[in-house]
Amino acid sequence: MTVLENAGTPPRRIIVGVGAGIAAYKVTGVVRQFTKAGDTVRVIPTQASLNFVGQTTWQALSGGPAHTDVFDGDTGVDHVEAARDADLIVIAPATADLIAKIRAGIASDLLTTTVLAATCPVVVVPAMHTAMWENPATQDNIGVLKDRGMHVLDPEVGDLSSGDTGAGRMPEPEAICEFCEAVLAQSSFGGKKDLTGVRAFVTAGGTREPIDPVRFIGNHSSGKQGAAIAQALTERGADVTVFAANIDPGILPSGVTVINTPSAIDMYETVQSVAGEFDLGFFVAAVADFRPAQDWDQKVKKSSENADGWALQLVRNPDILRETASRYPHLLCFGFAAETGDEAQVLEFGKAKARRKGARYIAINQVGKDQGFGTDTNRVSVVDGAGTKVLSVAGTKLQVARALVDLVAVQLVKKN
Ligand code: PMT
Repeated sequence: MTVLENAGTPPRRIIVGVGAGIAAYKVTGVVRQFTKAGDTVRVIPTQASLNFVGQTTWQALSGGPAHTDVFDGDTGVDHVEAARDADLIVIAPATADLIAKIRAGIASDLLTTTVLAATCPVVVVPAMHTAMWENPATQDNIGVLKDRGMHVLDPEVGDLSSGDTGAGRMPEPEAICEFCEAVLAQSSFGGKKDLTGVRAFVTAGGTREPIDPVRFIGNHSSGKQGAAIAQALTERGADVTVFAANIDPGILPSGVTVINTPSAIDMYETVQSVAGEFDLGFFVAAVADFRPAQDWDQKVKKSSENADGWALQLVRNPDILRETASRYPHLLCFGFAAETGDEAQVLEFGKAKARRKGARYIAINQVGKDQGFGTDTNRVSVVDGAGTKVLSVAGTKLQVARALVDLVAVQLVKKN
């Protein structure tokens, strides 16, 4: 995920511990990926690992010190501060020696001391020769680390630096970062289900406005962004209802209540009747602003009356977000705005929409061909009800969803 600008949440603090293995060079990619995402990265190499990648490289990549010893810092309690502040520690490559030390609670350098003092999630990425990996001593140590709640990313089978082939190869930086993201997501707010008791709804998908029994006016929304918001909310313990407009139910996370609302009027009536029971509403659905003035019972046939064309009269649909926000002031309303144009125009249109709709926040996404609708990624700027930009985020739709849920969670948790 790329957090482009974030006035809502501080950057995550990641400690990257580097062990003395040939795979240390690959960890430069891990550091780069985290720093690019806006995270604050601190590299703590072991002394022996500097034989593979030197201190200068780590300092240049992370923009901070790369101490190896407890007494390298100013205070001698650097490890306690670093461990207390970290959101995640990832150790890669985790050598057999390092794994054994962590299992035994040995604190002989800055990395092992920091791990011993840590309360945040710890990701261990072993890399070593197959014989060492399969040795019962290593397997026993790994089992103990897992039992203690550490997250182990098993090595891959492949070519090893010794020329042998087998299990023990360190996964690529992308796979390590993805694993870390999953651990971080699970552990948001210290792993607490901080939205337990919060009742949230999400409108998702694209409405279809019937013309006759076989035709409708629709749009390209797949419901993916709404499903991702539903998932991000359920991960944190919220009780989630999805008002679904023509989406594949298979994309929704388990445990959510699904109410089908295929047209704008269906969605409007349902949301209006139950919104009072909720604390939070995400209005992600692409709702048609107009519907045909008439809904024919029978298929409209070609006839002499429409031989030269057919002028379909449209009438305005109610604005679900605006009316819900005004009728239920207690509800935290989070809207979306799909806009076309250049980046500056999109932001201006979105800001105007935020002021008009009465939502607490509006996430503005630029849409177009292969952008926004139906894609797996998204890029949004969030403005508050006054039109002030508070966050920009890009990534998979789930990563975007988690960032948006983070923004509102702080307020809902405070309220509860
Ligand atoms: O579903 P995907 O394929 O994953 O695509 C996601 C998305 C692009 C549809 C989504 O990210 C998005 O932008 N949703 C809002 C689309 C939209 O209808 O925008 P709008 O600018 O027309 O509407 C602004 C807000 O008012 C939205 O929150 C919308 O739900 C709401 N609205 C609009 C019209 C209406 N009659 N009632 C409403 O409540």
